[in-house]
Amino acid sequence: MESFSIFSNFIYCESSEELICKKNSYLIVLDGVVEGIYQELPEKYKNLKLYDYKDKLVIPGLSDLHVHAPQYQFRGLWMDMELLPWLEEHTFPEESKYKSLEYASKAYDIFVEDLKYSATTRVSAFATIHKDSALYLMNALEKAGLAGFVGKVNSDRNAPDILREETAESINATLDFIEKSKELKNIKPIITPRFIPTCSDTLLQELGKISKDYNLPVQSHLSENPSEIEWVKQLVPKSKSYADAYRMFGLWGEEKTIMAHCVYSYETELELMKNKNIYVAHCPDSNSNLTSGIARITALMDSGVNVGLASDVAGGEELSILSAMKNAIKVSKLNKRLSHSEDRSLSFAEAFYLATYSGGSFFGNVGSFIKGYDADIVVLDDSSIKTTLKDELSLQERLEQYVYLKPSDRVFAKFVKGNKVF
Ligand code: GUN
Ligand code: FE
Repeated sequence: MESFSIFSNFIYCESSEELICKKNSYLIVLDGVVEGIYQELPEKYKNLKLYDYKDKLVIPGLSDLHVHAPQYQFRGLWMDMELLPWLEEHTFPEESKYKSLEYASKAYDIFVEDLKYSATTRVSAFATIHKDSALYLMNALEKAGLAGFVGKVNSDRNAPDILREETAESINATLDFIEKSKELKNIKPIITPRFIPTCSDTLLQELGKISKDYNLPVQSHLSENPSEIEWVKQLVPKSKSYADAYRMFGLWGEEKTIMAHCVYSYETELELMKNKNIYVAHCPDSNSNLTSGIARITALMDSGVNVGLASDVAGGEELSILSAMKNAIKVSKLNKRLSHSEDRSLSFAEAFYLATYSGGSFFGNVGSFIKGYDADIVVLDDSSIKTTLKDELSLQERLEQYVYLKPSDRVFAKFVKGNKVF
């Protein structure tokens, strides 16, 4: 665990209300954990290694609460479709290739390399149904210095033969996946039923038990698309809502649970969403690309629901959570103007809060520079943004311009839990 100080300009949240900006200050990290930010370098820390990032912008690492690693190869392709035909025609055939560890290793190496240099430090990722490929992904992420969760996907119905498991086989492979990932330190397993349509009642029930027995978090999809929601009603007729179907099978907030999308949740399942262990992964790019709709994110936030941001690659075309911030703001404005005038639009400060503090809390004390938080640190260089206003801009304004213009897919430097990734 590393100890060091950083001299730079710091921007972070301690709540959803406002950004905290500290110019020309010193961030102290002791044993991988934030100790504090000081105007002057305290005497007792003068012997620490000093990273000088003068004139840069330093923010907490961003969290991507929902990304499909095996879909990265077709990012930016095949968007002229809605969810269910998109899965059938493109996603399932590509994911079936991960049966081959050789193919998976090539593809996952490309994914991990790009993620490594992004502003993201924490992920909750879907792999595919293939256990050995999923373990390869976990090892590759760990080796790259990143942290978070990977799920071996479970799927035993309504998927093509090449991507469908027998129920018992799916359960056993999950147990083996959990066992074999034990030696990893920063990448942990997460229970990952793909979504209700591709998982039988028995499988869902068993996965609920495994999550409970092993104290493992859960991730899945919820209320993304109208046709999907109709289908779930037919598949689980006893459920009061899509969320209720997960609840019936013990997959609803017994452990920390990420539900991706929740585009239609405010109207139909708000009360269940208030369970404090439920995190909404808001995926504005994916929801636009797949014509899914606009999640009422500010309404959910104002009702006390946990929300974070997510790329949902390849529903979303890029890994960047900076882009997710920008697009979350944009779609919130369209929602207000076109659909729900009673909803607030999302402010820049709130989008930053979602990407850091709020999403980060899924992973523990992550996403801020509050004392005691894991030192997930991202250094941004905005010097390539040419503007006559530079000297007049506040740190928050410089960050806003960086987020909207994203001058590079690579950040300047990055630390995860105090370890320098590059
Ligand atoms: N629902 C079930 N599987 C998927 C997937 O791979 N992507 C998205 N966006 N939604 C899903
Ligand atoms: Fe998804």
